[in-house]
Amino acid sequence: MASSDPLVEAARRARAHAVAAFTNFKVGAALEAADGSVITGCNVENATYGLTICAERVAMFKALSDGHRAFTRIAIVADTEAPTPPCGACRQILWEFGGDLEIVLANLTDEQGRHQLKDLLPLPFDARLL
Ligand code: THU
Repeated sequence: MASSDPLVEAARRARAHAVAAFTNFKVGAALEAADGSVITGCNVENATYGLTICAERVAMFKALSDGHRAFTRIAIVADTEAPTPPCGACRQILWEFGGDLEIVLANLTDEQGRHQLKDLLPLPFDARLL
């Protein structure tokens, strides 16, 4: 399904900045804050491989660093036929700082699905359990 959602478009633009020389798997994310601000991120790989950070966490850490504390949605874009859902580490960070976000998955031309984060991360661990 073709998507003209501005949040998806922002994630597509962010994807163009991906630093993905090792996998060439470029991902863009666009996080919508409760005040309507859009904060973007792309994946950033480096020579250790293990210190790579995903587009979703870049977007969330940028947003937190800019003072945002409440969020509604995140769009995630990769150039793939199958949707690219957030990895486990990103699900944890998005849950802890964003709560039950709507997750919009898309590729370069089409929207591929919408999910609630609580469905992607059942039985989460978070600060309420400390
Ligand atoms: N990646 C993301 O940025 N987000 C995802 O949702 C899946 C994976 C990145 C990490 C790495 O740079 C590359 O995609 C391949 O795993």
